[in-house]
Amino acid sequence: MAKIVAIMNNKGGVGKTTTAINVSAGLAQMGYKTLEIDLDSQASLTLSVGLKNQEATIYTALKAAVEEGKGKLPIKHLKENLDIIPSERKMVDAEYLLFKEHGREYFLKELISPIRKKYDYIILDCPPALNLIAINALVASDFVLVPVQTEVLSLHGLVSMVDVISTIKKKLNKKLRIAGYLMTQYDGRTGLHRSVIQEMKGKHGADVFESVIRRNTRISEAPHKGMDIFSYDEKSAGATDYSNATKELIQRI
Ligand SMILES: Nc1ncnc2c1ncn2[C@@H]1O[C@H](COP(=O)(O)OP(=O)(O)OP(=O)(O)O)[C@@H](O)[C@H]1O
Ligand SMILES: [Mg+2]
Repeated sequence: MAKIVAIMNNKGGVGKTTTAINVSAGLAQMGYKTLEIDLDSQASLTLSVGLKNQEATIYTALKAAVEEGKGKLPIKHLKENLDIIPSERKMVDAEYLLFKEHGREYFLKELISPIRKKYDYIILDCPPALNLIAINALVASDFVLVPVQTEVLSLHGLVSMVDVISTIKKKLNKKLRIAGYLMTQYDGRTGLHRSVIQEMKGKHGADVFESVIRRNTRISEAPHKGMDIFSYDEKSAGATDYSNATKELIQRI
């Protein structure tokens, strides 16, 4: 039975999609059957693995679930042990689509339920928002992994997300747990970055990943070639960091 992990932070550009791609690829490489699901209307995950203009997406599945009472997730095979469910621009309408529905928080959970036993891990790439799609993701998940960009302002923004997670835990999904906060785009040469990590550890203790993702241009180049960091540059700092973070995630959950 798959462990389901939502990669979430309502702040934009913190490394959610990058983490979803590379952790999923890391898990697949270690032999775990992995499914990554793009939940964002920007479809960055979908585009980053080299897919575009997909007819069947997470949006069409949600739409069928609402309109026909029955939806099926369109699974695309990417490579050994790794599948994806793509997203598309129309996903911006999903919020409106679900809004008036009874049990609107449970649609994603119900779509995932029949395929859950096929995988070891299911990784959800969430939009930069605390909207109904994010709530669907939290209801469907066992764990939340929160990428945090290593900068002072990131820490303030975390409060509202932590509040939403604890509300969902109380009201809709008792088993939801924080897998951890993963610090991204870290630059060890700046004292400021080192102090941000210290501050995070002071506030969130053992919930902060020991592994840190350094800022590394190879990480930002890889998606332009439709690749994850391991196939793009196995020897890069980015590959080392995401390999460590993947191993740590497995231990933590
Ligand atoms: N460790 C890193 N080193 C260098 N560049 C990075 C790193 N992590 C992410 N980036 C780059 O930063 C940008 C934002 O990353 P990403 O798209 O993963 O963030 P996001 O949280 O998914 O954004 P959004 O909120 O828009 O969905 C991308 O261009 C990505 O390539
Ligand atoms: Mg993203």
